[in-house]
Amino acid sequence: MRIIAGTARGARLVPVPDGVRPTSDRVRESLFNSLGQFFDGGRALDLYAGTGALGIEALSRGCERAVFVERDRRARAAIRQNLERTGFADRAEIIGGEVERQLGRLAARGEPYNLIFADPPYRIAAAEVGGILYRLGALLGSGGRVVVESGEAPAESPGCKKGVARRYGGTFVTVFDRSELTMIVAVCPGSFDPVTMGHLDIVRRASKVFDHVVVAVGGNLRKAPRLPAVERARLIEKVTGDLENVSVEVMEGLLVNFAREQGAQVIVKGLRAVSDFESEFEQAQLNRTMFPELETVFIMASAEHSFLSSSAVREIASLGGEVRGLVPDGILETVRQIYCGAEGKIQGS
Ligand code: PNS
Repeated sequence: MRIIAGTARGARLVPVPDGVRPTSDRVRESLFNSLGQFFDGGRALDLYAGTGALGIEALSRGCERAVFVERDRRARAAIRQNLERTGFADRAEIIGGEVERQLGRLAARGEPYNLIFADPPYRIAAAEVGGILYRLGALLGSGGRVVVESGEAPAESPGCKKGVARRYGGTFVTVFDRSELTMIVAVCPGSFDPVTMGHLDIVRRASKVFDHVVVAVGGNLRKAPRLPAVERARLIEKVTGDLENVSVEVMEGLLVNFAREQGAQVIVKGLRAVSDFESEFEQAQLNRTMFPELETVFIMASAEHSFLSSSAVREIASLGGEVRGLVPDGILETVRQIYCGAEGKIQGS
C-alpha cells in the first residue's frame, strides 16, 4: 500500500497486521477523488483507523492535522510507523480505546473536523456505525463530510436517510455532508430505579419528536439506588428494543457533560404534577447556567401515569404488592424478584 497523492505521494506504508482490514488503494483513490483531490488545511478524524492510511492520505493532500482512533495496539504501532515514514508525526495524534467512548472525549474538546472517516472492520459495520452516526454530525465543522466504508449496503438509519453511496467491488462507501447528519439528539436522564410505564411513555413519545434519544441512567446523589446503574440500564434496553432511534447509556458525573459528549442539544424530562415542578425547574436552571445552549424540554405525563413513580413501585414490590401495569411487562418478573423483600435482594436466579 502506498500514499496515492499529495506531499507524501508514493510513500510505502508498513504491512497491515493480521486481522486488520485495510482500505485498498483503489477504493482510497476513488474515495478521495469523489471528495475533491486536495484540501486546504482543516482537521481529519480517522475512526477505526487500522494502519491510518485514510488519515495519512488526508494529511498528504493538505489537511493540517489528523486524529486517529484505533483500539488495536499493533495497528496503533503501524500508524505510528506510517506517520514517521511520511513525516507527518507532528501533525497527528493517535488515540487508543473504543471509538464509542472516545467520541465523547472528542466532542468535549469542541474541535470541529472537516473530514471524518468511519471504516470499521466488516464484521461490525452496519450495527456499530449506525450506532455512532448520530454523534458524528456534532463533530463536523461547516462544509465537513463523513465518509463511511462498509462491506454491506448502508442501512437506512432514522434521522439520517441521505448520503451518497457508491460501490467499489465488495466495498460500499457513503459520503454524508453536515446537513445530512444534523440531528436533534435528546438526552432523557433519570435514575430509573426501576424504569416504569411512565418513563417508557416519555421515552417513546420523545423518540417521535427527536432524531435520537439517549436514555441516561444516572445516580441521584439524594437517593441510594437498589440496583447498580448497569443493571438498571439493561432493564431499559430490554423494554426499548423496538425503538430504533433510542439508545441507553450509563451516565457518570454531571448531566451537562454527558449531554455534551453525546452531542445532544436537548434534555427531555417527564413532568407529572405541580409537585415535580419545583425540583425540575431548579435542575433546569442550574443545567442552563452550566450549559446555556442545552435546552430542557418537558413532556407532560399521560394522565394514567401521573401518579406513578419508581419509589412507589419499589415500595409496592417490597411489600409484596402487585406491580403489573406499573412497570413494562417485559421486566415484570425481574422487577418482582429484585425489588421484593425489604432489602431488595435478588431472589432465585
Ligand atoms: O429520576 P431522578 O432521580 O429524578 O433523576 C435525577 C437525575 C439523575 C436526572 C439528576 O440527579 C441528574 O441530572 N444527575 C446527574 C448529576 C447532575 O448533573 N447534577 C446536577 C443537576 S442540577
